[in-house]
Amino acid sequence: MLLNTYGIDFGTSYLKIFNASKKSVLKERNIIAKDADGKLLAVGDEAYMMYEKAPESITVSYPISAGVIASIENTKTILKKYIGSGFGLFSKTCDYYLSLPTDITEVEKRAFYQLITSSSIFARKVYIVERSIANAVGMGIQIDQPDGVMVIDIGADTCEISVISMKTVVHSTLLQVGGNKIDEAIQNYLRKKYSFQIGLKTAENMKRMHLCAVNEVPDKHIQVAGFDMIGMLPLEKDLTQNEMTEPVGECLNLIVDGIKGILEKTPPELSADILKNGIYLTGGTSKLRRIADYFKAATNIEMHLSDAPSESVVRGLSLIIANPAFKGYAAEPKDKVYY
Ligand SMILES: Nc1ncnc2c1ncn2[C@@H]1O[C@H](COP(=O)(O)OP(=O)(O)OP(=O)(O)O)[C@@H](O)[C@H]1O
Ligand SMILES: [Mg+2]
Repeated sequence: MLLNTYGIDFGTSYLKIFNASKKSVLKERNIIAKDADGKLLAVGDEAYMMYEKAPESITVSYPISAGVIASIENTKTILKKYIGSGFGLFSKTCDYYLSLPTDITEVEKRAFYQLITSSSIFARKVYIVERSIANAVGMGIQIDQPDGVMVIDIGADTCEISVISMKTVVHSTLLQVGGNKIDEAIQNYLRKKYSFQIGLKTAENMKRMHLCAVNEVPDKHIQVAGFDMIGMLPLEKDLTQNEMTEPVGECLNLIVDGIKGILEKTPPELSADILKNGIYLTGGTSKLRRIADYFKAATNIEMHLSDAPSESVVRGLSLIIANPAFKGYAAEPKDKVYY
């Protein structure tokens, strides 16, 4: 039997899978659509097309929420679709490298392990890599020195803030804030201020295409389609980029508080290193324009942005899989009493 290896980053918004034999990365929306009888209709980007648009009889849901499994059955269905469909008569056994946040419970980590071993994807061994370690390796940061390194991964549902030194995560906190919270804050702001209702997809698109973490001169006008709850008609509304920094900033401030909280707990020698070397930002939400300027102004610490924010975890996993020097970053759950 042949052996293949996969690296999986179970993002709330995007599933990323590295396939070692093909040296390829799959990135799809981590979402599933089922009909009223529970029959599978679509997964991934195809299911996302139906999000907020499908009739009530169709359920479109995210199987991972806040960094942990919300639906075992749906996660298995998605894995089977993206990994299992490649198996045929000459099935391979596979090793799996999973990146998981540090600050979740042992039970939640064990659930990921069991998910892999109980799915029809021919698991031989399952290794766990702490997400911040995978991020650091993926960004090419040296973490084997007695030097404090801070990595912040701002994704869709979560923001993981970690301090690493000598290959070990010294402190890590998982905040329930990320791109999804920003989208909701934008939606709430418009409903409260203008009685103007927009969908989360529209909020996300506006954020990705037009918004900025700080006010800019000149301000920019944005036309947004939604529903006017006073006139009770669809409406295209004229908004400005700068007014939207209010709801966006509310979410970013939660991250600033998180950074300060971690720095307070960090031994002074390590926090001095962080001040000297700067903070490394990654995760899809770090693509928000001028987010580094926002955090720098709030903390007085230099920020470095990842060149591939949404893929740094899976890139780190691919390097850990390929490079024997990184093997120590992956642990089999049984070594760490995950089950
Ligand atoms: N240009 C952009 N500006 C702002 N936000 C962006 C941009 N591009 C992507 N995002 C946001 O990044 C998020 C997805 O990032 P990522 O793939 O890192 O999340 P994830 O890994 O699925 O989530 P998590 O790690 O929280 O489970 C989404 O919320 C998306 O709206
Ligand atoms: Mg992520």
